Amino acid sequence: MVDMKKSVKLGLIGCGQIAQAVHLPNLTRLSEVELVALAETDESRLEQAGRQVPHAQKFTDYSQLLSMPEIDAVIVCVPNALHAGVAIAAMEKGKHLYLEKPMATGVEDARRMLDVWQQTGVVGMMGFNYRFNQLYQTTQRVVQSGRIGEIVGARSIFSTADQESPQWKKSRESGGGVLLDLAPHDIDLVRFILGQEIAEVSASTRSLRSDADIATVQVRMEDGLYVQLFFSWGAVEESGLEIYGTAGKVSLNRYESLSPTVKGTKAGGQLKQIWRGLTSIAGLPYFVERLRAPMNEPSFARALEHFVDAVRGEHRASPDLFDGYRSQTVIQAAEESALTRHTIIPDSL
Ligand SMILES: NC(=O)c1ccc[n+]([C@@H]2O[C@H](COP(=O)([O-])OP(=O)(O)OC[C@H]3O[C@@H](n4cnc5c(N)ncnc54)[C@H](O)[C@@H]3O)[C@@H](O)[C@H]2O)c1
Repeated sequence: MVDMKKSVKLGLIGCGQIAQAVHLPNLTRLSEVELVALAETDESRLEQAGRQVPHAQKFTDYSQLLSMPEIDAVIVCVPNALHAGVAIAAMEKGKHLYLEKPMATGVEDARRMLDVWQQTGVVGMMGFNYRFNQLYQTTQRVVQSGRIGEIVGARSIFSTADQESPQWKKSRESGGGVLLDLAPHDIDLVRFILGQEIAEVSASTRSLRSDADIATVQVRMEDGLYVQLFFSWGAVEESGLEIYGTAGKVSLNRYESLSPTVKGTKAGGQLKQIWRGLTSIAGLPYFVERLRAPMNEPSFARALEHFVDAVRGEHRASPDLFDGYRSQTVIQAAEESALTRHTIIPDSL
């Protein structure tokens, strides 16, 4: 762990869209953190990213960054198919790891990563940043408090409008498709909010403009509850969750809600109550924080802050690589189900 009095020295590997638009601005705002090196194979992107951190060393080969003894931890934002290789190399060099989702592109790689993580004992955190979004945190508290009764069903949607995306996201071979891009978040949130594992998966995918750019997934939780998840690129920009219980319903729309909506069971009894826990969780009211955040999503900065504090030994990082592994097994089960039209039980450890 890093001495509490010293600043944490970080390296960033992969300086593409998410790194430049979100992580770099957030990292430069974090206190007691020094971003000392960047690695990126594309020289013009490396130059561009370097303008945000003029004092950082720049490498086109990430192994040179990993060889810098002063680096405590790395943020890995390379294309999905490279996650396993880069993460394993970083952990083997003793670097604490913040890994963008998904953990890998297959369960076999994810399992190797778990082994290395356990052998090296470094902090290994997954970039499931929405766990740090107050809407989901409050929803979890509502569900776990029993306020909406026994949960009888849930559904989520994560859909994006047509947008410029890197070429590697368009083909499954290079780690593309919505099951590897959007699904890791919602699968993790379902586990986080309901507090149990996914026992069975059935899924279908469609490839309209690129490989598997639409997917519907139905999962059965350990207690028998069914959850439906829908993912799509190139449609409406929407991200939300609805959870139905015997005593009410909690729902959120990530782009529109300032707090989750909790309502009772009777029709017409619209909006019995708005859950007002949000402003008390952090100093800033949620909507102010959202307006100030890069890409209007405050959870990215919170997740990185949590990681840095874990590197300092202040707490265990969560979500960790074990959560990444669980999410990966569900994704793989969904892919297998889409292919075979069977219900699949995700791998366990
Ligand atoms: N948490 C989120 O909500 C979120 C959002 C967007 C992206 N992501 C994840 O972040 C990662 C990057 O996504 P992106 O949209 O920024 O993609 P991107 O293609 O824009 O960025 C990836 C960068 O990695 C670089 N790269 C490739 N090989 C490299 C290597 N060997 N060494 C160093 N750099 C290398 C590429 O040149 C590119 O600039 C993906 O895993 C993606 O799933 C997460």
